[in-house]
Amino acid sequence: MNKAEELDKYGYIAEHIDPTLDLFEEIDRLKKEKNAIILAHYYQDPDIQDIADYIGDSLGLSQEAAKTEADIIVFAGVHFMAETAKILSPSKKVLLPDLKAGCSLADSCPPHLFKKFKEKYPDHLVITYVNCTAELKALSDIVCTSTNAVQIVESLPKDQKIIFGPDKNLGSWVAKKTGRDLVLWNGACMVHEIFSQEKITKLKERHPKAKFIAHPECEEPVLAMADYIGSTTGLLKYTISSEAEEFIVATESGIIHQMEKANPGKVFIPAPPNNLCACNDCPYMKRNTLEKLYLCLKNEIPEVSVASDIIEKARLPIERMLEISAKMGL
Ligand code: 13P
Ligand code: SF4
Repeated sequence: MNKAEELDKYGYIAEHIDPTLDLFEEIDRLKKEKNAIILAHYYQDPDIQDIADYIGDSLGLSQEAAKTEADIIVFAGVHFMAETAKILSPSKKVLLPDLKAGCSLADSCPPHLFKKFKEKYPDHLVITYVNCTAELKALSDIVCTSTNAVQIVESLPKDQKIIFGPDKNLGSWVAKKTGRDLVLWNGACMVHEIFSQEKITKLKERHPKAKFIAHPECEEPVLAMADYIGSTTGLLKYTISSEAEEFIVATESGIIHQMEKANPGKVFIPAPPNNLCACNDCPYMKRNTLEKLYLCLKNEIPEVSVASDIIEKARLPIERMLEISAKMGL
């Protein structure tokens, strides 16, 4: 099998790693040698978060990718995030430890179907959640993240008709918060749709003092139970500012690493999902490992590429989002 076939089949190039190597030291050495930066999302394994130069939510990661002076960006996150980094910094090499680190939400909105959907609403502007493919961003007017979705919608005139995609749960929440009537694409994230209302109710009964906090990608009945709703950064900040000692957390469990680091002594309980393995891990985010991160930095492969015509069209809606966010101090 040649390298292209191996990448296609497995998403990364497997190679024996000397077990005596200290991967933290090696990654640090390679980073300096190659002028590389590691950007990691909060849903990554704790080891990856601990070696990263920057850890953040989708907005923070885009802002970092747009301003970095590194020659190489190693994106410890999922494919759409690495694509966004490439669109914002096309001259840089963007590496993703595992090319198969995709996203169920991005997959729930194939661009050719969305294009037809959009044609039905010619007088609407399109706001897309950043969790989508580069092709979808190229069909959009403005991109948003969970941190700025409400402000992005509110930045448009009240009578402006809007299509919001691909996440129907985030879209419904934004529609409710802004009082706008948004046309929603019917997409969702498999991790945030799996929380069990019934098990959360029982858990709340067992922990009456705990605050229940949730990401807006969760379904409406789960959000209705929440004391606080916000992006991963929003949730993290809430745990720091709140006087509560216990939190039930309805999002991917990787964020709990930063919550524990920022709040020694406070207790964080992952919200129970409706599945038998009782796990809130995103199977895409968790494809990245420290070993794959080391190999991708060492061999500079797999690299994420985006066609130049897509970069040209997708860049403007992302830049609009960054401009509006900067104006609002987000
Ligand atoms: P944020 O970190 O921007 O809140 O996004 C959550 C998410 O689902 C990323 O895949
Ligand atoms: Fe996609 Fe959901 Fe995983 Fe985020 S948590 S990368 S939205 S599948």
